[in-house]
Amino acid sequence: MTVSATRLLLRELPSLAGQLPDFDPATAAGTPQDQFVAWLRGAIAAGIREPHAMTLGTVDADGRPDARVLILKDLDERGWHFASSRHSPKGHQITASGDVALTFYWPALGRQVRIRGTAVDLGPDAAAADFWARSAEARANAALGRQSRAVGDDAPETGAEISAATAGWAVYAVKPASVEFWQGRSDRCHVRLRYEARGDSWTTTRLWA
Ligand SMILES: Cc1cc2nc3c(=O)[nH]c(=O)nc-3n(C[C@H](O)[C@H](O)[C@H](O)COP(=O)(O)O)c2cc1C
Repeated sequence: MTVSATRLLLRELPSLAGQLPDFDPATAAGTPQDQFVAWLRGAIAAGIREPHAMTLGTVDADGRPDARVLILKDLDERGWHFASSRHSPKGHQITASGDVALTFYWPALGRQVRIRGTAVDLGPDAAAADFWARSAEARANAALGRQSRAVGDDAPETGAEISAATAGWAVYAVKPASVEFWQGRSDRCHVRLRYEARGDSWTTTRLWA
């Protein structure tokens, strides 16, 4: 397929088509956490598949960015939680720099949420609780501690190695510095509202689309 054919293919794909909900920033919640939960509930009610899937952006020790999709595990006063291997590339990147970004996109609603903040390891109790809540298959996979290694690069084989790998499971919370809610509109007059942390409170700013 030629480049111009690909361009044509892409040009024919609609984006932000159909009926999208309104978002009036005047009615937004006082905190981005509450606003997020309201939109998450809306995404669930709209039947969006995997509304709890999000893209986590990190930077490595050389400042090179990386990104991948993860599942949101919880949201509380500590921030947005996700679980992963501490020994994975993302785990090493977070050790090098806790500065991360999360992005949610709910296509049928034309809604995006962008979170910038700091990833904090919630410690062994949170990791153990998440680990044991996983399915047996998921636990076995995590216990092998081989995430992102090349297939054929053998996993640890002895019990001691496996339990050491299990200790590599981690739950992180992203403590938000800013959270932006983006409501797409078919007339392209998109609505954007950004919350920024100011100590224990939040300021909000409307942004040009
Ligand atoms: C829908 C979806 C959900 C995922 N959820 C997780 C998750 O919760 N934790 C995780 O470690 N990887 C999850 N993954 C796999 C990651 O995207 C990624 O491939 C893996 O964590 C390795 O990333 P890294 O090499 O950047 O460390 C998920 C992938 C998809 C597509």
